[in-house]
Amino acid sequence: MIVEASAPSNIALIKYMGKIEGTGNRPANASISYSLEHLRTWVTLEPLSGAADEWAPLERAGLAAPELSAVGREKFLKHFARMKEALGVSGFFRIRSANNFPSDCGLASSASSFAALTLAAAQLQPGRLDVSELSRLSRQGSGSSCRSLFTPWALWEGEGAESVEIPTGTLLHAAVIVSAGVKEVSSSQAHERVTTSPRFEGRVARAHERLRRLISALKESDWRVAFDTCWDEFVDMHELFETSQPAFGYRRADSKAVVDAAKHIWSFKGDGPLVTMDAGPNVHLLFRPDQRELAEKMVKFHREKHKVITSWGGWT
Ligand code: DP6
Repeated sequence: MIVEASAPSNIALIKYMGKIEGTGNRPANASISYSLEHLRTWVTLEPLSGAADEWAPLERAGLAAPELSAVGREKFLKHFARMKEALGVSGFFRIRSANNFPSDCGLASSASSFAALTLAAAQLQPGRLDVSELSRLSRQGSGSSCRSLFTPWALWEGEGAESVEIPTGTLLHAAVIVSAGVKEVSSSQAHERVTTSPRFEGRVARAHERLRRLISALKESDWRVAFDTCWDEFVDMHELFETSQPAFGYRRADSKAVVDAAKHIWSFKGDGPLVTMDAGPNVHLLFRPDQRELAEKMVKFHREKHKVITSWGGWT
């Protein structure tokens, strides 16, 4: 019997950055994310008559196998072992996985991969664990994946994520790919490094205050306050990177040009997209459903120089 599951990626607006050591990815602070339903991973599991679990690419039209490093593969297999133990499943399996976006496009697939693996494993013992238990387990594989089990908005405060009711409707997402290259410092390493920044002091309180402000702004449709809060948050995270010891950074001149273009729109229209950046050089823009025209204009502009992936029109 072959089981299959898929899960979306997600973009955090208040970031998970910094963990409590030795707790299996318990975060230093709470985070909130929006699911990216158009950026997904599929995982299949088939029983194997071997002595160990194996990973292989899932070959299917329209999907691309992730390029898993040895460390990445190890982390994935370890998570599957954790899932089997929690579910009381014995035997070995071939895990196949693939994304509907290329692995070399500069968008991380760890959240969608680990969430899809968690959901696929759960199907080996249907109904055994509920979604909050699955979220807690997924977190131990890769922290941000615990939010991918709840859509569209997920709030993660400690052990696992939960759904949060926010009346924004379906947002339009565009990722401007400033660079698709491999990062020198992975997000897992970034979690450790940020604690060496003098700015880490007060970080948890700042993140919590912004989380409170963002949720109430989104609930009250105060898009301006939502924009300012998301902006302060990604800048805070990148400044932590840039002031760590040793310092590192992901922001490039082109990242700055893209975020500044969004700020410029805000300054003359009094409106615009939410802007955020993850632990990488690429820029994520989120538009309300009624901002479709603006979204298309901005994407057209950025496509003169960069690849842009959108939730409404794919790649060009
Ligand atoms: C910057 O979930 O990739 O994307 O738990 O070590 O696997 P591990 O880290 P990961 O960290 C993601 C960090 C982030 C912000 C976020 O998604 O909240």
